[in-house]
Amino acid sequence: MKSCSVTARAHTNIALVKYWGKKNQELIIPMNNSLSLTLDHFYTDTTVTFDKELEHDTFYLNNKLKDDPKIKSFMNLVRSLANIKTFATIDSVNHVPTQAGLASSASAYAALAKAASCAAGLNLNKTNLSRLARRGSGSACRSIYGGFVEWQQGTNDTDSYAVPFLENVDWDISVLAIVLNSKEKKITSRLGMQSVVASSPYYQAWVETCQQNISDLKKAILARNFDEMGRISEENAMKMHALNLSASPHFNYFEPESLIAMRLVEELRQTGISCYYTLDAGPNVKVLCLRKDVTAIKKKLSTVFSPEQLLLSSPGPGVTLI
Ligand code: DP6
Repeated sequence: MKSCSVTARAHTNIALVKYWGKKNQELIIPMNNSLSLTLDHFYTDTTVTFDKELEHDTFYLNNKLKDDPKIKSFMNLVRSLANIKTFATIDSVNHVPTQAGLASSASAYAALAKAASCAAGLNLNKTNLSRLARRGSGSACRSIYGGFVEWQQGTNDTDSYAVPFLENVDWDISVLAIVLNSKEKKITSRLGMQSVVASSPYYQAWVETCQQNISDLKKAILARNFDEMGRISEENAMKMHALNLSASPHFNYFEPESLIAMRLVEELRQTGISCYYTLDAGPNVKVLCLRKDVTAIKKKLSTVFSPEQLLLSSPGPGVTLI
């Protein structure tokens, strides 16, 4: 293999119907389908350089040397697929405002899957790229594509991957992220979902209702019915957080300010503005809205939050080489 350096860019995605629970931990096979929107504003650029002189992989995140066992085992997977033994330098830069807490494993592993597989001489199609990204972090399999993307859960390594649902979004949708500081280190999504599957008495109901949520959400997207899309997304997010509250031991990702943000969105809705919230495994609140309402929504949120805490995104593209 010739020594080769490749750089890829992948964007984060926000799940509207969430992935929350695995049926296979090692292969990262989810319990339910999920559906997300890839965002343009936050992304990761990753350069992978295989070099015969190296004695181990070296990983830099935002120009700082990191020791990350997950990256190493992901690189081992790439090496076994490409049938090579060469180590690599991995240089990853997150393009999100510092301290925003929006850096995501989705953009990280989608960019790494693309850069590492290309640099290793593998010429993966998007399905196989999605399968590979999934092995790094489940949500990453959706960031291979732009726009609305569905992760079809499947049952094994071969049939669990994302497919595009509506790649070119001809709809003025925006996502306004409200960046909140978390005081304590919260439970990771990996551990959180594991605990929920093992102990929430409501888990089966989650799996059953997610299927309906996905099919209703797809109809709403195709009909460009924003209120229906927002309603389903908000309900699905709250259902996920209800699982966390019902786990043993129970946990949650909310900060007091998360609840304040959610209340403000509900108040905006009462005044006739279409906007809905969703939260992942952290305190930040993401507001789904239409572009025409962004100014009014920002005005209301600015009564509590500073302008630096409000970050606007639109639908974004899939993974690319740069
Ligand atoms: C709440 O993809 O970070 O954001 O597969 O264990 O790496 P692992 O988990 P991860 O979980 C994301 C959970 C979520 C919902 C979602 O993105 O679907």
